[in-house]
Amino acid sequence: MNTVPHRKYSPSEEELQTDLCSKSQCTNLPTQGQLLLPLLETIHQAGGQAKPNEVYDALATKIQLPQWLRELRALAGRAGEINVWERRVRNTRQHAVEQGFIDNSPERWRRNLWELTLAGKEGLRNCKPGIIITVFSTDLGTALLAEAETAVQFIQDSSINLILTSPPYPLITQKAYGNRHPRAYVEWLSELAASWKQKLADTGSLVINLADVFNPGSPSLSLYQERLLINLCDNLGYSLAQKFYWENPSKLPSPAEWVCVRRIRVTPSIEQIYWLTKNPAIATANNRHILRPYSQSMLHRLAQGGEPTEQARPSGFTFKQNAFSTNNGGSIPHNLLIASNTESNDEYTRRCRQNNLPIHPARFPTALPDIMIRLLTEENHIVWDPFAGSGVTAQVAEHLGRRWIINERSLTYLQGAALRFSRNPSLKTYFDQHAA
Ligand SMILES: C[S@@+](CC[C@H](N)C(=O)[O-])C[C@H]1O[C@@H](n2cnc3c(N)ncnc32)[C@H](O)[C@@H]1O
Repeated sequence: MNTVPHRKYSPSEEELQTDLCSKSQCTNLPTQGQLLLPLLETIHQAGGQAKPNEVYDALATKIQLPQWLRELRALAGRAGEINVWERRVRNTRQHAVEQGFIDNSPERWRRNLWELTLAGKEGLRNCKPGIIITVFSTDLGTALLAEAETAVQFIQDSSINLILTSPPYPLITQKAYGNRHPRAYVEWLSELAASWKQKLADTGSLVINLADVFNPGSPSLSLYQERLLINLCDNLGYSLAQKFYWENPSKLPSPAEWVCVRRIRVTPSIEQIYWLTKNPAIATANNRHILRPYSQSMLHRLAQGGEPTEQARPSGFTFKQNAFSTNNGGSIPHNLLIASNTESNDEYTRRCRQNNLPIHPARFPTALPDIMIRLLTEENHIVWDPFAGSGVTAQVAEHLGRRWIINERSLTYLQGAALRFSRNPSLKTYFDQHAA
């Protein structure tokens, strides 16, 4: 997929156009972006510092590089004949230096040592602004360790058909994955949404899932969703195509003070899903793709020729003769989605447990991306989730034959997301699977 231009990582022309190494052979090598994370892990496992020769071999072993690629040589201009793998690793090291992960001081040069900086040692679990690293990929998609603010810079303009995401909700208290206060939140998400608009195709859609938030110390709700929505439409030029509502029947009662202790509010089990478009008249959408199976009574009515059982509704609405005589393959869905996200024994949670990885606490139920992707995209379209969490969006997009990009700031969540693809023969991972 060439939607994420790996500008910083692409091999130089010099590397590709050599006498001894054909272009196709060289492009079998992982890119610098794909090698960055394994390189840092290799140095980390060597005690935080290592000589280049040790790194070349350890890194090749770590990513199971075929021996012929490890030994591949090429003529590279004035440098003469070079080992292509070692050149790629050196370039990746240079990229790591530019990102502040490897120390480039004269002392390290003198001792020919590659040594991790503090950022290199600690910075990758929750990645910092400016970092973008490919963590895993399939034939259809790419998962990036990157903040939303960084990833957007690498996405081609007008290339995305659907942005489907659930940003971290604004919270008064800090959650595991970092949240902003509602006041700053609207500004932050509006800025991001402004940059997303440019990335969307003219026929594209933005779908955002947001939850209600109580004002601190008060049994009253924040209006951040309404403020955000008005900002997106009035100031950024999005159009609200439709609102959907997601009911999570297994939602726990909260906030405890108002719902459980004082018993003056009920459990908030509904979340909002805003479907916004750049241009509502031309946005791709087809509800025929998400028809629900007919009820038994409707099937019976169709079998009887489709006569309505009642001629007029209490509202005065009347049905035409044979109003129900056409079998359209199913009924048109409503905009309420009822689905739980707490499957505790699905493959993702089982594999996370087996691999000692955290199970993401705020996952989409599969039904949510399934409906949105089928409604709003065609096969081969590109879906992007800039706050990917456990990667449900990617898994569903892959299943439906859509191309996808996800990015997430937490490496451990992405390692969990990769487990969703472990049966996919085209899966390539670029992190140390044993370090989880
Ligand atoms: C509500 S969760 C998304 C869950 C996801 N929809 C799923 O189904 O698993 C929000 C995610 O955004 C991530 N996150 C927070 N701030 C971020 C940022 N600035 N850039 C990228 N990801 C971020 C958090 O680590 C968290 O995993």
